[in-house]
Amino acid sequence: MHCDVLVIGAGAAGLMTAITAANFGHKVLLVDHANKPGKKILMSGGGRCNFTNYYVEPDRFLSQNPHFCKSALSRYTQWDFIQLVDKHGIGYHEKELGQLFCDGKAKAILEMLLDELASAGAQLHMNCSISQILASENGYQVNSTLGKISANKLVVATGGLSIPTLGATGFGYEIAEKFGHTLQPTRAGLVPFTFSDQHKALFASLSGSSIDAVASVGDTSFRGGVLFTHRGLSGPAILQISSYWEAGDVLTLNLLPDIDAAQWLTSLRTEAPKKQLKTLLVNHWTKAITEAFDGIFDLSRTLATLSNEDINQLAKSLNEWPLRPSGTEGYRTAEVTLGGVNVDEVSSKSLESKHQPGLYFVGEVLDVTGHLGGFNFQWAWASAVACATAI
Ligand code: FDA
Repeated sequence: MHCDVLVIGAGAAGLMTAITAANFGHKVLLVDHANKPGKKILMSGGGRCNFTNYYVEPDRFLSQNPHFCKSALSRYTQWDFIQLVDKHGIGYHEKELGQLFCDGKAKAILEMLLDELASAGAQLHMNCSISQILASENGYQVNSTLGKISANKLVVATGGLSIPTLGATGFGYEIAEKFGHTLQPTRAGLVPFTFSDQHKALFASLSGSSIDAVASVGDTSFRGGVLFTHRGLSGPAILQISSYWEAGDVLTLNLLPDIDAAQWLTSLRTEAPKKQLKTLLVNHWTKAITEAFDGIFDLSRTLATLSNEDINQLAKSLNEWPLRPSGTEGYRTAEVTLGGVNVDEVSSKSLESKHQPGLYFVGEVLDVTGHLGGFNFQWAWASAVACATAI
């Protein structure tokens, strides 16, 4: 079997590469070892697929080279993808912070891509495993369960390591290394934290409740919901900050993000000295959270009993509560994989390998990771279009 372009991986980036390359007139073969394409699209955004964001900016992406993503993102923007969604009559809405979700199910986005794929004339083969890839004079020779495939160009769109049950493997990294690429160390991103210290039982007791807080690691902070879980902490602010956290780092939570707790407690000590801390804090947190935190912050005290030193200590805990996660839930639940194929060895314009002509990398397999909010799909769409256009 021969094709102009062989794309490995029928996820977001692989589908978009195949569609675009086929629309340019290339004979495209898209293969995947899983039984169905686009499994992560179906699971994404809680089943409604947060397919892009109104505010796509390069600073919403992590990479060892933060400039790498700029070229592709500027040439296929969120507006281009929205136009495609509109063309297919798929209803969507902004949930918050520019995040665009389907009104209905995520399936609509996958069906849209599969319709585009069929009308572009690309061939899709699922349940296809690849055992060997060799570079030849005219391109690539690939041994697969479909038989031998020869291709002029090879696009690696195999994604990262997150959620192996959805088909994730490190195959793209193996291909990259085989052709002389280096990898940036990989780790789970957009992932809940786990705890093994005294906080584990506290968070477990509050499992299912959430609080508005600012989560920080070093100089990076995200405000949003922090969800207590049986194993630790999750929710949007935690998922976002997890991409900046490395083992051993301290995570701090500001539990009163709109309040300077030291000033607030000092003035209330004069105005309402008999008030218990609990009665003040229950106006900002739920009753269950206030009661659970009583054990840690001693909230049964009345304001009058607090010395300046007590106020400073308590205020620091409320505005900068230091926590030490024991780890993260890892690739089992992580939405993305940080690190990957070193982008300094790939052209930012064409996504072609600088070591191996005719070999391309798109999507999450590269060391480009977006924040939560539709940025990872936008990177998949944009890198795919940049690659297919260059082919
Ligand atoms: P992706 O992982 O989508 O596709 C890779 C494909 O390669 C898969 O089909 C896989 O089967 C195939 N493959 C792997 N190894 C192979 C091998 N050895 N041989 C053949 N094929 C192989 N992002 C976002 O922007 N908005 C959102 O709402 C969400 N929500 C979300 C929820 C959940 C639960 C997860 C896990 C992730 C998200 N994401 C997200 C992240 C987003 O899904 C992710 O960044 C993109 O799917 C990456 O697209 P890729 O095509 O690069 O990889």
